[in-house]
Amino acid sequence: MRWHQAKPQQASVLLAIAMRNAERMKRLVDDLMDVHAMDEGHLTLDLKSVELSEIVSTVLADLEPTARSKQLRFAVTQPQEPIRLNTDPNRLSQAIVNIVANAIRFSPIGGIITINMELSANQAVIRIDDQGPGIPEEFRDKLFTRFSRVADDHAPGTPQGTGLGLFISQNILHELSGSIQLDSQYKSGARFIIRLPTEQHQAGRGSERRG
Ligand SMILES: Nc1ncnc2c1ncn2[C@@H]1O[C@H](COP(=O)(O)OP(=O)(O)OP(=O)(O)O)[C@@H](O)[C@H]1O
Ligand SMILES: [Mg+2]
Repeated sequence: MRWHQAKPQQASVLLAIAMRNAERMKRLVDDLMDVHAMDEGHLTLDLKSVELSEIVSTVLADLEPTARSKQLRFAVTQPQEPIRLNTDPNRLSQAIVNIVANAIRFSPIGGIITINMELSANQAVIRIDDQGPGIPEEFRDKLFTRFSRVADDHAPGTPQGTGLGLFISQNILHELSGSIQLDSQYKSGARFIIRLPTEQHQAGRGSERRG
């Protein structure tokens, strides 16, 4: 069907599809530019004092419509004391979005995605669990490499991505003096664990920080 032949209702469906495709394309271009910047060592950071739970709630609010379309629920736990970080809020959000977007994509309809924040040994720890198929053992050593995706039969019917999200997240977290790992003991889905130095801890290591 061509635009000029479409009835108004059909035109709005076509427009929505075109917009989704344009967004997907923009995200791909942005991801490829980030990968290039990482390869060149030019990823810029804009460090600020921020509260972790604020970053997480903004990320979850942005992803809520996608989660709702699969009737998923976010279960969030956090300590009473705020966790303050000296970090780049946009880059940290980007890293967390990638993990939660994967969790949404691989979750069964009606599932729960658990996001747990805690302080442990001067580190902020963020755990993101889903109830999807998990990561097959034979794929785990490739999980954070660029363009790697598990074969289709891992999660039939799940839309394929580009295989850049976890590579980018890991690079960002390393730049932020943090880390990400898959919890290989977790058997009920996938569990990713992000660790970041807290503001107080960084203050004591000031000279080691990048600006
Ligand atoms: N929560 C998860 N549950 C099951 N498999 C996952 C999960 N997260 C990642 N994976 C597997 O790891 C692969 C790599 O993830 P990654 O986020 O790097 O790429 P992607 O989601 O395929 O594409 P992109 O993030 O670039 O859109 C995914 O294709 C999927 O096979
Ligand atoms: Mg992804």
